[in-house]
Amino acid sequence: MVYTEKDRGYRRYTVTSALPYANGPVHIGHLAGVYVPADVYVRYLRAQGEEVVFIGGSDEHGVPITIKARKEGVSPQDVVDRYHKIIKESFAELGISFDIYSRTSSKEHHATAAAYFKKLYEEGKFVEKVSMQYYDEEAHQFLADRYITGTCPHCGNERAYGDQCEACGTSLNATDLINPKSALSGSKPVLKETKHWFLPLDQDEPWLRQWILESHKDDWKSNVYGQCKSWIDAGLQPRAVTRDLDWGVKVPIEGADGKVLYVWFDAPIGYISFTKQLKGDDWEKWWKSEDTKLVHFIGKDNIVFHCIIFPSMLHADGSYILPANVPANEFLNLEGDKISTSRNWAVWLHEYLKDFPGKQDVLRYTLCSNAPETKDNDFTWKDFQLKNNSELVAILGNFVNRTLVLTQKFYGGRVPAAGAWSEAEQELIKEMAAIPERVGRSIETYRFREALGEMMSLARLGNKYLTDMEPWKMVKTDAERTATVMNLALQVCANLAVLCAPFLPFTADKMHRIMNLQALGWRDAGRTDLLAAGHQLAEPELLFEQISDEAIQAQVDKLQATKEANALDAWQPAAVKAETTIDDFGRMDIRVGRVLECKKVPKADKLLQFRIDDGMGGRTIVSGIAKYYPEPEALVGRQVCFIANFPPRKLKGVESQGMLLSAEDKDGRLVLLTVGDEVTPGCNVG
Ligand code: 2FM
Ligand code: ZN
Repeated sequence: MVYTEKDRGYRRYTVTSALPYANGPVHIGHLAGVYVPADVYVRYLRAQGEEVVFIGGSDEHGVPITIKARKEGVSPQDVVDRYHKIIKESFAELGISFDIYSRTSSKEHHATAAAYFKKLYEEGKFVEKVSMQYYDEEAHQFLADRYITGTCPHCGNERAYGDQCEACGTSLNATDLINPKSALSGSKPVLKETKHWFLPLDQDEPWLRQWILESHKDDWKSNVYGQCKSWIDAGLQPRAVTRDLDWGVKVPIEGADGKVLYVWFDAPIGYISFTKQLKGDDWEKWWKSEDTKLVHFIGKDNIVFHCIIFPSMLHADGSYILPANVPANEFLNLEGDKISTSRNWAVWLHEYLKDFPGKQDVLRYTLCSNAPETKDNDFTWKDFQLKNNSELVAILGNFVNRTLVLTQKFYGGRVPAAGAWSEAEQELIKEMAAIPERVGRSIETYRFREALGEMMSLARLGNKYLTDMEPWKMVKTDAERTATVMNLALQVCANLAVLCAPFLPFTADKMHRIMNLQALGWRDAGRTDLLAAGHQLAEPELLFEQISDEAIQAQVDKLQATKEANALDAWQPAAVKAETTIDDFGRMDIRVGRVLECKKVPKADKLLQFRIDDGMGGRTIVSGIAKYYPEPEALVGRQVCFIANFPPRKLKGVESQGMLLSAEDKDGRLVLLTVGDEVTPGCNVG
């Protein structure tokens, strides 16, 4: 039984999650934005006994793939084979319970996407246009989408792509870009004539306006509704659905050699072709029946494609249902900075799974409780540790463990029979009966953080109940009451096993195992007879374990190393200073001297004190390079350069008579300027 009015009329659910580009592994941003919420949703629906298909797969076409292949000197197929495998396996290990995880390079997908295009083409649903497109004369290639970069006309981001600006999320045409540049050769592209097929979105405006802006004002998330409204209000333009490229689904008509379907035309058809792969002849009811609820889980950069372009493709065909909802999330940042594949600023799922084996639910929990549902949010490793140690371990794990260990101790693991409930217990039972509906309603309205909080509130109540009742003391004086308390605590544990399953499936399985529970459904939640008196539990096991400061520090260090590597990559020599003259230079008295002594200046971490043979009786110079020369005595005998005519000044009580010259390397390290060939101390540099 579903709780929201709107959902009552549906008999089945088709749930899709955005197809990740197979040009890199998936990271926590993808997970928090799309896959964890989608998985919670479908697991909940299945627990409700609903018929669901959960569709996923890799998006293997488009320019991001070909750019990567070109960079690595391999074929696009090599790239997608590599990442499809990593993505598919890591999703499975995290328990993302797709009914199918396929790929758009599959033969079946090509056939479905081509047929979809052909039908619309034959029915005259496209507008054929010869237009001017950017062309790279050095690479002899038209520049589609990401092959072209430039400045976004909306927000000024200088790294906008020909199809989209990732900074402001606007979908663009390449000709909108200011200062366009080819991503292949870096050259300025020229405009050249080419023919393409366009989806006339302008003609769709009336029904889109009615369907989204009127019918979905109340049930679509405000970020989704808002983006659609500003698109529609700005006036929709025809959108090209073909490209001059050689990687993708070939345009299946005559006179279209060298052209493929636009990746955003073929990818969403992937949802349909994968359903066909999964369901065979029975696929149509999942896409064409009004009593099917179609829900797309996506990130905010995909809103326009799923709310306007794909619906207009579905509408053009005429036999498909439209999405009932498109719950898009905002973005997750990492330690205060935007997640970025190219800057390697991410927590990669496959690496997390290696670094934290068996801790899938900790990540699922952290990402769900922090999901960027209404605004961008931040993931920090400290918060991850806190969520584990102070919530999963201290609340859920602690309650279940205390209950099971006491049951073991008092009753050899057999569920004791309950007597009459006290008033406080009746209150707890009432609350427990109400929680499943609250969790369910929140999930059905895509408020997963709230749903998770409701589930945890039952664990909190359970913990408080045990702490108030103190059965470990009570057992010495009142065996009957203790049995009642332990029975109720066990019923709460069994309820938690049901309620946590959509969020924490591995934990739920473990709880079922250690309580020897039959598989339970959502409608079992709220009951106080899930564990019959006399039922034998298995041996207790800890549900969660503490995550140490060291484990967290290792992750923070890994990110720090990335930050430093990025800074080095981004380093460029400083701009040349304004012109100077030989006279200016001549005023500097630069000499070579030999180091006679070198030692640390006491109580000054940064300073080294040099005694220099300057050919004029010797001088002392203090220099702030101690950090880079941990063995100062090793410098004795070296020939160094110094400025001889700086006025003396005191540094930490030592008078410095000049300045040693050094070079600052790109990592900020100071390297003393030394002279290799023998020269006489005191001679001039010029
Ligand atoms: O933004 C992306 O990562 C796209 N690959 C999502 C595609 S979703 C669907 F339409 F296939
Ligand atoms: Zn922009």
